[in-house]
Amino acid sequence: MAATTSRTRRVTAPDIAIQKGPIREGSAKPLVMVTAYDAPSARIVDSAGVDMILVGDTLAMVVLGYDDTLQVTTDDMAHHVAAVARTSPRALVVGDLPWLSYHVSTTETVHNAAALVRAGAGAVKLEGGRKRVDAVKAILDAEIPVMGHLGLTPQSVHALGGFRVQGKDLEAARAIVDDAITLAEAGCFAIVLECVPDAVARLVTDTVPVPTIGIGGGRHCDGQVLVFHDLLGIEDRLQPKFVRRYAEVGADATAAVERFAADVRSGRFPSSEETYHAADLLPDELKIDGTVAHVVDADDSETSEPAPA
Ligand code: KIV
Repeated sequence: MAATTSRTRRVTAPDIAIQKGPIREGSAKPLVMVTAYDAPSARIVDSAGVDMILVGDTLAMVVLGYDDTLQVTTDDMAHHVAAVARTSPRALVVGDLPWLSYHVSTTETVHNAAALVRAGAGAVKLEGGRKRVDAVKAILDAEIPVMGHLGLTPQSVHALGGFRVQGKDLEAARAIVDDAITLAEAGCFAIVLECVPDAVARLVTDTVPVPTIGIGGGRHCDGQVLVFHDLLGIEDRLQPKFVRRYAEVGADATAAVERFAADVRSGRFPSSEETYHAADLLPDELKIDGTVAHVVDADDSETSEPAPA
């Protein structure tokens, strides 16, 4: 079963909700979600044919330079959701509700979720299990699809004592399964499972009727998500073991900028081909001026000689 029904129609949360069935059962292709935070990254991931674009609150870390995700606000998230949505991607745009945007009251929660929808999201994501059921229900009551997020929930970094694998003992594993059941019963259309042992992810996947999307949850989930900057090798401050790097864009980009700097400093950039020759446009009186005359008279043949000292 293809993850989506058509290349042209925009993917919706209900399209995703029915893509249940891990690859081992041969019943569905695993879902693919990748984060994006701006128009260029959204165009790249959508052209690659992903099913969902997550405008994640990892924005705080991989784009804005913070050490955790707690620093972004609903306004920040809406700004970046809008940039992604402006590219009219085929993929479902999921807007991440940031820390404290759904913890205070259901009224605030619904307004914050609505802000992401008005910015262009087709669904929102929030972190946490049983504690978040009221928030999930309130958002669903406003007709906004909700994706859950269990296991390592980075917005709880202080409460969890760091970015650590979750569900490692029986009690913790049971709690994750119970939370997943609760979220699915509340109406979440999919659940992210972050940094949990594969056996726990498999148990959750086998238990809940909605797709699970793993990140550090092993291969038994119904789909996988990675952060754009991790999979392209742009972010290298943290390198969790679940990240597979498909490119070294960070290193390539640094090398490209180094070459540019060297070309500028040696006079090899810009070349004549990279220059507007305005001779025909300049008024006659300017052509006799020494400085401009140099530009006008420039010899198109030289492109890579260093500038005179
Ligand atoms: O914010 C994010 O990018 C996420 C993913 C790590 C799932 O929540």
